[in-house]
Amino acid sequence: MIISQKYRDAETEIEFAGLDKLRQLDKSNRIFLVDKNVFNLYREYFPENSILFESEEENKNLQSVGEIINSLLEKKIDKSFNLTGVGGGITTDISGFTAAIYKRGIKCEFIPTSLIAMCDAAIGGKNGVNSGGFKNQAGTVRHPAKVLIITEFLQTLPEKEFAGGLAEIVKIFSLNSEENFEFLEKSDFTELKNTGIIETILNNAISAKYKYRQAG
Ligand SMILES: NC(=O)c1ccc[n+]([C@@H]2O[C@H](COP(=O)([O-])OP(=O)(O)OC[C@H]3O[C@@H](n4cnc5c(N)ncnc54)[C@H](O)[C@@H]3O)[C@@H](O)[C@H]2O)c1
Repeated sequence: MIISQKYRDAETEIEFAGLDKLRQLDKSNRIFLVDKNVFNLYREYFPENSILFESEEENKNLQSVGEIINSLLEKKIDKSFNLTGVGGGITTDISGFTAAIYKRGIKCEFIPTSLIAMCDAAIGGKNGVNSGGFKNQAGTVRHPAKVLIITEFLQTLPEKEFAGGLAEIVKIFSLNSEENFEFLEKSDFTELKNTGIIETILNNAISAKYKYRQAG
């Protein structure tokens, strides 16, 4: 399933796919910035030259951005490349921010692997890094060209992180749609990670988030 979402003058293609899609992606014009935990679980899907990032709030800062930029330079990444951020919201935020400033901006796309990143952090174009002990003090608003959502990643997401993502979805629906709220209420929570159900919920949450922003 592919949906195209437009916000002001920016268009993002949002695609729901299976893990196999990762094997089909053209690797010649992509450099992957991957959450280290995700890389360790799914390493066969990522090229060897992937840049690994330890997803901790204390690493979501300008120093890490500088280190990532140096890795991109060492790997001779030029403006023809797409920076593909793979991981939870910390990794998609730092990927989007780095892509926005590296060589004055290269294309970026996200493959979110946590529920929060799928419904929120990878959606809407905001990318922040922490500074001075405060969250998201520096950032950019720049939409990714593509968000590839592979809900199979949720099978390995710790339960606590999954619950945090569900809370975010409830928040998005509470701002926006009684109908979506009812769908969520009626869903069997033990079956929520089942691809069909979670894709429908995410699709509704993403559409709701875009609708809310368009109206604002
Ligand atoms: N830009 C935005 O609009 C926006 C919106 C919401 C949140 N955020 C940001 O997102 C961050 C929180 O995101 P998060 O909760 O995804 O945190 P996170 O990126 O730290 O991921 C949570 C944990 O889950 C692990 N993980 C992720 N995917 C996994 C998988 N498939 N299998 C196993 N482990 C996996 C990570 O390694 C990490 O330990 C915050 O920094 C917040 O500021 C940004």
